[in-house]
Amino acid sequence: MIRDVPVDTKDAAPFVLPPLPFDENALAPIISARTVQFHYGKHHRAYVDKLNLLVQDRKIREVSLVDLIRRTHGNPGQADVFNNAAQVWNHNFYWQSLAPAGRGSENQNPGGALTQMIEKSFGGLPALKTEMVENAVAQFGSGWVWLLWDGRALRVTKTSNAHVPFIDGNTPLLTVDVWEHAYYLDYQNQREAHVTAVLDELLNWTFAAENLERAKALGGRLAAPIQ
Ligand code: FE2
Repeated sequence: MIRDVPVDTKDAAPFVLPPLPFDENALAPIISARTVQFHYGKHHRAYVDKLNLLVQDRKIREVSLVDLIRRTHGNPGQADVFNNAAQVWNHNFYWQSLAPAGRGSENQNPGGALTQMIEKSFGGLPALKTEMVENAVAQFGSGWVWLLWDGRALRVTKTSNAHVPFIDGNTPLLTVDVWEHAYYLDYQNQREAHVTAVLDELLNWTFAAENLERAKALGGRLAAPIQ
């Protein structure tokens, strides 16, 4: 499982493509095996391969993926390293944010403390989903929609291209990829339909609850990513 891979070790380079936490057809019919094959096997893999080439070229050593993202953020001369490193991290997190289709209420109900927090922060799960869909539709071009913990409450936000929320001091709980490569084979240009289906049928609420629990256990605003 991806979550068992330490992300802040000092020997993370060369970076690896973590195994998918499920079979490539496990998300069908919401996300087809063909989309997963391209998304994971081509796009995600390409970010890992490109990052390793860049790291080798720049003679970057002894740095974790998270540290590399932090060090290169906002540095125009290292924008290519940042973009590829952040996209590796985002995709590692994305696959864990999804759960195999067909599990019914497990994918539809957050449960426990997370449900209470959703009630408090949004007024309920339907309102949370509406806000996530609105952010997905409003994101101009490529990006990501996030459910995150800001140290006091849950929030929904969107980021452009490769940007990661932990740079801004927030803890991501779940993400949905809204780059076209995430949905175009199955939904063509219908981003809203894709995101709505993912939110209704594929979210890994157990992963979100674990991330929230760990963030709260560490206390307050948590800048470190949970993965
Ligand atoms: Fe993607």
